[in-house]
Amino acid sequence: MGTQQSLDLDAALRFDGKVAIITGAAMRIGRELAQLFAQQGCTGCHVGGKFTISTKDFTSPPSAAELFTETSPAAKFGAPVGLQYMARFLRNIGSFNLGVPGKGNDFGKEIGADEKATAALVAGKAGAQPDALGIDYNGDGVGAGYNVPSLLGILAVPPYYHNGACESLDCVVSNPKHRTANGTLPDKLTTPQQRALVVQYLKSIDSRTTPPK
Ligand code: HEC
Repeated sequence: MGTQQSLDLDAALRFDGKVAIITGAAMRIGRELAQLFAQQGCTGCHVGGKFTISTKDFTSPPSAAELFTETSPAAKFGAPVGLQYMARFLRNIGSFNLGVPGKGNDFGKEIGADEKATAALVAGKAGAQPDALGIDYNGDGVGAGYNVPSLLGILAVPPYYHNGACESLDCVVSNPKHRTANGTLPDKLTTPQQRALVVQYLKSIDSRTTPPK
């Protein structure tokens, strides 16, 4: 279910030629919202038909040169999980420890889960939980950030962020580090009104949405 505005937009689009004037207006509003999303640079990461740069572009298995861990070379701090990842798909929006109480990455709603991976079973018993991926533990220059999620039907799948730090899209868009790609883009969504429009747009994204460039 969307808000009244996104439902109206959907309804108008489905009426086709019968309410051509409303349809035209609704489409224009849709385009303007998409422009706001693109102008803020969201399309730098959430782009194309799935609204993500994350598309498998290689034949499995990936080449060993593209695989990394945080355990080799050895971690300089923490006790990270030994899982492999492909560094070139990660993007860092400063969301490690986001909203985890007492971890220094607060943004108003401190409900993020601890950065822990699944405990390994040792003789059938759960051992200690290793530290989760998402930060560069071993100082080799890769490992900070996350795979960019698709935004198709994003309205329907809260909570958001890898650790559930946000329960609403409004919360996601209110995070200045994310909007600015961790301080590397200018923030053009500084007013609650502008952010509300981008949230409207996010709520409308599904497989029928033409992705902005
Ligand atoms: C530099 C790349 C980048 C940019 C730019 C970016 N995002 Fe993201 N976005 C991400 C990553 C990475 C995550 C996942 C972070 C995490 O889970 O901690 C994410 C998560 C999200 C989520 C939550 C998805 C989920 O399934 O939990 C939404 C919604 C979202 N982004 C919308 C936006 C909007 C709107 C903008 C523009 C204001 C934007 N993003 C700009 C990389 C980016």
